[in-house]
Amino acid sequence: MIGYEVLRERFQLDGYVHFDLRAFVPSIADVVERVASIGEDRWSFIVKNRDGEHDLCSSDKVEASRQHAIADRDRELGRFAFSFRWMPDSRENADVEALQAMKQLMASRPVLELLGKVTGSVPLAVSQFYLSWFEHGHFLGTHCDPGQSFGVALSLTKEWDPNHGGLTVVLPDGGKEPAACLVPGLFTLLVFDTSARRIPHFVSAVTAPARRRRITAVARYRA
Ligand SMILES: [Fe+2]
Repeated sequence: MIGYEVLRERFQLDGYVHFDLRAFVPSIADVVERVASIGEDRWSFIVKNRDGEHDLCSSDKVEASRQHAIADRDRELGRFAFSFRWMPDSRENADVEALQAMKQLMASRPVLELLGKVTGSVPLAVSQFYLSWFEHGHFLGTHCDPGQSFGVALSLTKEWDPNHGGLTVVLPDGGKEPAACLVPGLFTLLVFDTSARRIPHFVSAVTAPARRRRITAVARYRA
């Protein structure tokens, strides 16, 4: 198993690092099935296009696909846009047990201690948390994550074919040549420095067959 010293070195050098979280926190495996079984109706559509950001509930499929089409055109034109489904840690979702269990795990002592060793800053709490679901046509344009300390993206995706897109591509600041390209792998944790560095990244458009989902848990930390 790779030691956290190496991870910390990479994080300090590159501003990001990725590794298998299960190797450090085995209990992570229990939560995945629970997240996969959350009902479709709990996942809203989140779309950003030239007209703004639209958070549409699962029953708003017609409007969601209209906004998605505009976002898709913006993507083709090279404008910042995104379109996927998500479940934020909001008051409305306080009763989704799998979401809350996942958030608690990401805020648990073993995870906080590990992240403290890797990043060199002491995480106090999770300041933002959501689950994302990417399926056919979904994408997230190049952006830098906001925040004062660091953020993480934990892949909960099983057996993903890289031919189906949904790759996380990390670009060095100001550059266009990718520095890293991550295939969604179960329990792969990507940690980003959001304190002083700019680490642009994007999620390439998903071309997977229907019902194949790329699921990720995203957390930002206060340190
Ligand atoms: Fe991001």
